Amino acid sequence: MNKLYLGDCLDVLRNELEIKPESVDLIYIDPPFNSKRNYNVFFDDKEIQTQRMAFEDTWSLHSVGDSLTELDTIHHDKLLNLLHAYRDIAPQVFPYLVMMTLRIIELHRKLKATGSFYLHCDPTASHYLKTVCDAVFGAKNFRNEITWKRTPFSGSSKSRAKQLPRNHDIILFYSKNQDITWNSPSVVYSEEYLKRFKWKDKRGYYRKTLLKTYSQETFDKLKSENRLIEPIKEGAKYSYKQYLNESKGSTLTDDIWLDINMLNPVAKERLGYPTQKPKALLERIIKASSNEGDVILDAFCGCGTTVDAAESLNRQWIGIDIAPFAISLIKRRLKDTYGNDLGKFEVRGTPTDEASAIKLWEQNPFAFEDWWLTELEIFATTYGKKGADKGIDGIGQYLIPKSDKVVKVAFQVKGGKVQSKDIDALMGVVALDKYDMGVLLTRHKPTNPMLKKATQAEQFEAAYGFNYPKIQIMTLAEFFSGKQLNLPKNNITFKSAATVGKGGKQGGLL
Ligand SMILES: C[S@@+](CC[C@H](N)C(=O)[O-])C[C@H]1O[C@@H](n2cnc3c(N)ncnc32)[C@H](O)[C@@H]1O
Repeated sequence: MNKLYLGDCLDVLRNELEIKPESVDLIYIDPPFNSKRNYNVFFDDKEIQTQRMAFEDTWSLHSVGDSLTELDTIHHDKLLNLLHAYRDIAPQVFPYLVMMTLRIIELHRKLKATGSFYLHCDPTASHYLKTVCDAVFGAKNFRNEITWKRTPFSGSSKSRAKQLPRNHDIILFYSKNQDITWNSPSVVYSEEYLKRFKWKDKRGYYRKTLLKTYSQETFDKLKSENRLIEPIKEGAKYSYKQYLNESKGSTLTDDIWLDINMLNPVAKERLGYPTQKPKALLERIIKASSNEGDVILDAFCGCGTTVDAAESLNRQWIGIDIAPFAISLIKRRLKDTYGNDLGKFEVRGTPTDEASAIKLWEQNPFAFEDWWLTELEIFATTYGKKGADKGIDGIGQYLIPKSDKVVKVAFQVKGGKVQSKDIDALMGVVALDKYDMGVLLTRHKPTNPMLKKATQAEQFEAAYGFNYPKIQIMTLAEFFSGKQLNLPKNNITFKSAATVGKGGKQGGLL
């Protein structure tokens, strides 16, 4: 069951997901928030100061007309009326709401009768989205509006001018019906409560709890396990040892969550994805609304926080994202986190051979570029920038063996015809911007003059006698036949997730 899909979730949900309707136990989505800004992933290289667009969250009026017609044909009169009202009173969110509505309808269809739906958003759109969810799920199936305080910081004084800091997100919680899977979440004990566990033996810390009503069987069991504490005074009651490591935590009784912080910039868990959510947040939601073996779906899965949490909690999972970069990060995150413990999973929608890669290029050259670079674990610098074909498309960083010297490699991706001047341009960029090497990735075969220029270029002398070709060329066919670039083995371009294995602690709650 475990699957990652590259693509627009609407299309994947309708046409590609090989599951029956009503077969998902829990859906969590964290779609772009309509915040009218692009999320940028900053490359950790102050010198280059380059950045890439991970995804556009400004869904425009483009294609909204088609979506409205679709809603009309599937007889969603209530929703159509609602959306039309927003066209007048909230034109800034109207296109976003139309796009989200179609997707929420599809997600609702996939949910089991006992299933739950969590929609993570922020106060700029939460009140509008709630009305859409009320119409799709039925207002009686609204369960909670969870306020998650993202950060203990109150923002800059400018952002607080004449208003309070905006430091929380909203998570709307709906269910398909009334009878749902639910395990009351527990939270860490307060410091006050922990102080009561002041005794210790070889089993760990314990507190003394008075034994009130009990059967002879319970008494004998406690005695045989050496948990019984005899009363000091004759005739007084027995106590027993209640161990901290056997306690479940106290029940969560709030829909305002203050105890899970946003990832700090140096958190081990952090992968550099701009809107990455803490794993502890997803663990809480998954534990509350599913059981082991259940199916969890995230249709806007980003760098895979839901997928990672589901894997660690032994649930089945499905992740969908439109950005090749996200899918690539998730593959790496899972591999790095679980190593040999990682269960089987499939990746759909990413090119698997030359023909499907060419198809991707024909559909979306930027996605093709992003896909190929991220397959090689190279940071793509120009994704989404229309017409940006000057300079370079990607940057890789590698560690030279036996030294702590880091080298920088410039990457250029070409989907169309290539010629000699492309090598000249790459050599120019390498020299000008002080890259150590340059790589041309090309769909078409290079010409003979190109090959000659590349082989005649000088070698890059790294350190300790390690030499590499200054300019290299790799074709799409060579990539799929398994050819390796001649670069240092240790690619450090993306920071790796901390390896914890299953059941390991990674920002857990208890
Ligand atoms: C806010 S981020 C999700 C972050 C995620 N919760 C995490 O912890 O990494 C939203 C994601 O939605 C993806 N996205 C945007 N439009 C999409 C669409 N139509 N279908 C699928 N994914 C989409 C973006 O690429 C982005 O990764």
